[in-house]
Amino acid sequence: MVDQMEFDAEQLAGRFPDGFFFGSATASYQIEGAAQEDGRGPSIWDTFSKTAGKVVNGDTGDVACDHYHLWAQDLDLMAGMNLRAYRLSIAWPRIQPLGKGAANDKGLAFYDRLIDGCLERGIAPHATLYHWDLPQALEDKDGWRNRDTALRFADYAEIIAGQFGDRLASIATLNEPWCIAHLSHLHGIHAPGHRDIGETMRVIHHLNLAHGLATQMVRSIVPTVPMGIVLNTHSIMPHSDSQADMDAAERAFQFKNGVFCQPLLQGSYPDSVVEHLGDLLPDDYASDMADIHQPLDWLGVNYYTPDYVVNVPKARFPAAEGKLRGDLPKTDIGWEIEAKAFTFLLKDLNERYTLPPLIISENGCCDNTGVGSDGKVQDTMRRKYLEDHIHAVADAMEAGVDIRGYLAWSFMDNFEWAEGYTMRFGLVHVDYVEQTRTLKESGRWYSALCRSTGG
Ligand code: GCO
Repeated sequence: MVDQMEFDAEQLAGRFPDGFFFGSATASYQIEGAAQEDGRGPSIWDTFSKTAGKVVNGDTGDVACDHYHLWAQDLDLMAGMNLRAYRLSIAWPRIQPLGKGAANDKGLAFYDRLIDGCLERGIAPHATLYHWDLPQALEDKDGWRNRDTALRFADYAEIIAGQFGDRLASIATLNEPWCIAHLSHLHGIHAPGHRDIGETMRVIHHLNLAHGLATQMVRSIVPTVPMGIVLNTHSIMPHSDSQADMDAAERAFQFKNGVFCQPLLQGSYPDSVVEHLGDLLPDDYASDMADIHQPLDWLGVNYYTPDYVVNVPKARFPAAEGKLRGDLPKTDIGWEIEAKAFTFLLKDLNERYTLPPLIISENGCCDNTGVGSDGKVQDTMRRKYLEDHIHAVADAMEAGVDIRGYLAWSFMDNFEWAEGYTMRFGLVHVDYVEQTRTLKESGRWYSALCRSTGG
């Protein structure tokens, strides 16, 4: 007897071609813990989370999900869920505790175990080189505001390529440069918590350069590993059909998405950005464009929520800001839910640019449902969210967008940055005191979906 859950999952799986893969994603600082173990150096998130008032409840990643020690059982669980791919990130400060110089053998050994552990279980390991845990020693020298960090990043990529390159299913250079630039240097919400448009523009450029240099470095060592980058491209739409909001939406698109997509894919910055903010880019930025504009084997797209924008007259470029629709349901973190905005985003990107194959590198739902008295986690909102959004991906593919895989955020509950442990995105529930894992109902459904696909 196939139950309804399996039936729904099978129907959905039937919309994807052979070879399309499903898996899940995590990030080092959010799950590993062991922050001071085996020679790991401090990162900007250690510093930031220990700064009063920056993270809810003063939570830190010191222990997190203790994945550094529990990795084998976590991989067993993934295999049991039929996940074919695992997007993990490598903590730069485990590899180079001070952000430069020789590799720390114990840090390399951890990722050796983890990557081999994936391969032994038939899970394809996809590595992200940077998911926000910059070595504090580099931040002390101005972090991403400093061009030198891009060069240090390429050195770090050289170590990773040499050590792991031939065992990885893909490498992403950076995760969500918008968060590193805008959220961390303009809105002050993520580490290092600055609010400065000049810094933001420099960081944007140095991130693009870091990506380009690291991509070239990896390819010079392991030409075969598929190289990409993960963007949280915003699905920007005007809040109303007024011309003013439509113009604002276009400006916001270029400021949030265009500053990464266009240099990476076309080798230039958007005209509107150059016109209004070009004097804040590094003086010699144009001479870096050839390094930045490297062919991408794939592009990762992360999507969570729609971004409706309104015109904000007289404000600094882009003179636009996001405004909740108000008529849409919300997840437990307050983000509005709209699956068709995901399809819109994928089609919009496909129309604007000549894209490499896409991978949905993150998509998921904050649903804080806990473990019930029956021992189950009945996270029906997450399950519905995933189902609707995976349909949205299939819709985009039917409309002609080339998408090769889908990675749910996240494998398990984890340290949700400025929200600490209060917000849960996992398919697997984590009890942070006992370090126990409980497969949620959404996870059970997702496992059925993964089982129904070829991998
Ligand atoms: C991201 C993040 C994740 C977050 C997730 C939910 O790349 O934004 O990779 O670290 O936890 O997006 O906010």
